[in-house]
Amino acid sequence: METVEIQRLVYASTFNLGRIDSAPVALRDILSASRRNNSRDGITGYLIFDGETFLQILEGPKAAVEATAARIEADKRHRAMSVLGFRPSSDRLFPNWSMAGYLRSPTHQEVFARHGFAGKIDRSTLSEHRVVSMAVELSNVAV
Ligand SMILES: Cc1cc2nc3c(=O)[nH]c(=O)nc-3n(C[C@H](O)[C@H](O)[C@H](O)COP(=O)(O)O)c2cc1C
Repeated sequence: METVEIQRLVYASTFNLGRIDSAPVALRDILSASRRNNSRDGITGYLIFDGETFLQILEGPKAAVEATAARIEADKRHRAMSVLGFRPSSDRLFPNWSMAGYLRSPTHQEVFARHGFAGKIDRSTLSEHRVVSMAVELSNVAV
């Protein structure tokens, strides 16, 4: 148990394909800044990216999660951020990751299919629960 209450934020957003950055390069850059900042700010989490849609979970003290989310929302590398859930939690789901990054690959396609994402991620069908359960499963088999 942590002394500070943990909040968990789950959101989806859409990648703004850069003129220079490919999806893997964008993800690499995002993760290096995330790991630096999040370890300083007491934030952990998981980021799933399929080249088009980002699904991210941020967990940590409320003020730190809010400040990080505000910074992320202003980032021109993506748009249309929609929050799927923001709630207190007694535990961290990703205590060992300042930010894990998973770039979708055919290797774990069955995990996506099991969570209803056999094809492209359809943002209109997303829910907090589906994103969290898929991220937990991916964290056990991948990154
Ligand atoms: C999808 C996405 C997820 C991101 N996740 C984080 C994150 O978890 N933590 C973080 O500090 N920055 C994250 N960023 C980057 C921020 O938008 C911002 O560029 C960065 O925090 C700036 O940090 P710096 O001033 O140290 O370079 C993310 C950006 C995108 C597009």
